[in-house]
Amino acid sequence: MTRTTIFAFFLPLIAVSTGVFLTSAEDPHKKFKGDDAAMMRLRMGELCTEEGVYFTGSGNCVNCHAPDPAGEALVDGNGHTVSPVVDWQATMMANSARDPFWKAKVAHEGLVNPEHRESIENVCTACHAPQGFHEAHLTGSAGPNGYTMEDLADDALGLDGVGCAACHTIDDINLAGRSNGDLPINPENVAWGGFENPWDGLMSGQTGFIPVYGEHMRNSEVCASCHSLYVHTQDLAGEETGQVYFEQTTYLEWVNSAFNAENVQCQGCHMPLVEGGAIAATQPNWLFPQRFGKHHLVGGNAFMLKLMRENAVALELSASPAQFDSTIARTERSLQNESAQLKVIQLQSPAGEWAFEVEVKNETGHKLPSGYPSRMVFLEFILTSLSGDTLFHSGKWTQEDGVIGRDVTYEPHWNEISSEDQVQVYETVFGDVSGTPTQLLERASLLLKDNRVPPRGFYSNHVTYDTVRFGPMAELDFDFNHYRKEDGSTGDEGSGTDRLVYRITDVSGSKSVEAQVRLHYVAVPARWVSGMFEYAGQSEAIATFESMFNATDRTPVLMKAKSVNGWMGYIGEVEQWRVAPNPVADGKQIRLIPPAGEMAEEVWLTDANGRVIREISVHEAMNGHHVSDLASGIYFARIHQVDGDWQEVRWIRM
Ligand code: HEC
Ligand code: HEC
Ligand code: HEC
Ligand code: HEC
Ligand code: HEC
Repeated sequence: MTRTTIFAFFLPLIAVSTGVFLTSAEDPHKKFKGDDAAMMRLRMGELCTEEGVYFTGSGNCVNCHAPDPAGEALVDGNGHTVSPVVDWQATMMANSARDPFWKAKVAHEGLVNPEHRESIENVCTACHAPQGFHEAHLTGSAGPNGYTMEDLADDALGLDGVGCAACHTIDDINLAGRSNGDLPINPENVAWGGFENPWDGLMSGQTGFIPVYGEHMRNSEVCASCHSLYVHTQDLAGEETGQVYFEQTTYLEWVNSAFNAENVQCQGCHMPLVEGGAIAATQPNWLFPQRFGKHHLVGGNAFMLKLMRENAVALELSASPAQFDSTIARTERSLQNESAQLKVIQLQSPAGEWAFEVEVKNETGHKLPSGYPSRMVFLEFILTSLSGDTLFHSGKWTQEDGVIGRDVTYEPHWNEISSEDQVQVYETVFGDVSGTPTQLLERASLLLKDNRVPPRGFYSNHVTYDTVRFGPMAELDFDFNHYRKEDGSTGDEGSGTDRLVYRITDVSGSKSVEAQVRLHYVAVPARWVSGMFEYAGQSEAIATFESMFNATDRTPVLMKAKSVNGWMGYIGEVEQWRVAPNPVADGKQIRLIPPAGEMAEEVWLTDANGRVIREISVHEAMNGHHVSDLASGIYFARIHQVDGDWQEVRWIRM
């Protein structure tokens, strides 16, 4: 069965070459009207217009769900476009079947296990090329070993990636329990959507797909089957061991989180609703606003989006550079504003030593990072003296060497860091049957490390815990994912945090220091792909990706940064300012030591009667002020805090 589409209203006839339009700085996710909208639609003519039995190309949705030249439909209250085609076109999911990392990795797995190559490919295409995979299997046209990379190479529906129809034809049949791309595809060409009573006067006539409300489209379950992935473990000889290893568990991590209980679905963060709704189609012209989930669908993968933007022509990607730029910006914003919180405080420590506690709090709906096992988040900690000298630096990153100090096998999970070759890296590491760390997905057998920060409300007694458990070292960290009680002792589970201490011996004898903490995200660490690049001579896909990888800026995305000052003689949880030394001898200086989290805005010295002797600068007050000119007696330091409060501290000049 093949249908003919009647393009009654707009016909994107011309095959536009990639990369020529919309290269201006104009954000394509913003306003789209008149000529700009028409140009955008023209470019979308490159999208797949193939029609299958169960699926249809995303290009066939352009006619009514692309930007509206009249500026009426598919816009939010500010007139910015919310067209699902514009938003989706430059996402990782839209490009999942042309993703050069994915293609290289499929080749790698096949080269290591040549006798299983085709069946491996049939696993990989299920989620990355779902329309091609399911169309082939449902129509019986797949070969004996399934839907392979060779089948995909010239299959437009498959190359359409996670296209509009891949998500919209998913039926509501036991979705929560599915994995590995096992999608229940609607055989009647229903396109499920998120709002009730859609008007179907035009859509099914033109596309053959009927818009119908499906409550499941509003829920995480619709994402489950592609965001839960296990492999059948193979030993070093390529024989299946009968073991099942959970490689990606993003959906199950969410199930074991507070967001599940609080009804914050994947869509709540990844497809935010338009306030006040939006008109869902550009025609007919009498439609009214409906619930509308924006198809942002971004995660943390700014790196691959940049790589694809730079190589869009070679990779035959349809999205414009400006569309990629805007998806990259959205990804970076989400990493910076919605992913984590960072806290750092000074701890009391003996003289000659500095101690700071750092807390990382996950704000996402799953582990941080989640998803593909190459993802990592790491902490950088820099201690500088008052004069600007670097006293300590853990977690330094360079393009050549990646994270400095990271162990060659894998970096342990740390509770306390006191040397520069120790660095906190949040990641998952699996080993093969012999326990050796490996990046071969098909050989994953043992969980060696998983200290990815769990989401808030994650419990180790939850039914999912077997598949989403912490690695051995994080399990031994008693305050990992635990709240802290008022009295400082470890509280309940489910905090979604990791706390660790940096303890540094200071040989410079500084009276005050600055501690800077930064949290970074890396989607594709060089070390994760270096083993694969050894096969570049045997695979064009690997060689292609290697050259693109080496040409792309790999600087990690800075997610959060915090800095605090540390004061010599600081004593923990007190609420009072102190003067040191006290009493102060002739010829010596006094310093102020703040209580936790406080800072002075103004400082005065007064005599015993409260008369101001002089104002001193905050810098001097904190680092040393000579009082030799004052007569012996009782004095006060009067402090106006940054938070507005006042404090007075008594001190004695000997
Ligand atoms: C259950 C669905 C599913 C299957 C099956 C699957 N993947 Fe994926 N894959 C994903 C998802 C989802 C992501 C993205 C997760 C993220 O961004 O962290 C991904 C990401 C990747 C990435 C990283 C891509 C990038 O641009 O960073 C590679 C490489 C990859 N997969 C390779 C494979 C290979 C090889 C196979 C077959 C052995 C495979 N995948 C099978 C769902 C799947
Ligand atoms: C000829 C115009 C046209 C084309 C082409 C078209 N649609 Fe629609 N679509 C509509 C109209 C009209 C509505 C209903 C709007 C309303 O009721 O406010 C709609 C609604 C929808 C809905 C919402 C259903 C709901 O209840 O939430 C989805 C999902 C949808 N379309 C998907 C698609 C997909 C996928 C394609 C491409 C295969 C596509 N559409 C192509 C016109 C079209
Ligand atoms: C990753 C899966 C996915 C892909 C790919 C996808 N959609 Fe959607 N779409 C959804 C979900 C989920 C909703 C429901 C969101 C909600 O209402 O909370 C939705 C909603 C819609 C709606 C109705 C608005 C609403 O919120 O109910 C339209 C129209 C639509 N999609 C069209 C498209 C078109 C056109 C494409 C391709 C360019 C596309 N979608 C690609 C998952 C997807
Ligand atoms: C048909 C399979 C499929 C479905 C359904 C699906 N995804 Fe994905 N998703 C993928 C694949 C494959 C990738 C990785 C693509 C790549 O990196 O090449 C991915 C990647 C992602 C990413 C990572 C993007 C980035 O830039 O890091 C997010 C976020 C995401 N999906 C969210 C969702 C949400 C939310 C839903 C449900 C509304 C959903 N997905 C449904 C297959 C799917
Ligand atoms: C509370 C908000 C929230 C919820 C709920 C949520 N996510 Fe995310 N997700 C994020 C943020 C923020 C990021 C970016 C940080 C990151 O990459 O970890 C992200 C990243 C991702 C990634 C990229 C992997 C990675 O860590 O780099 C995938 C894939 C993903 N989400 C899928 C899902 C799926 C599927 C669901 C539902 C089962 C879901 N998310 C629920 C906020 C959320």
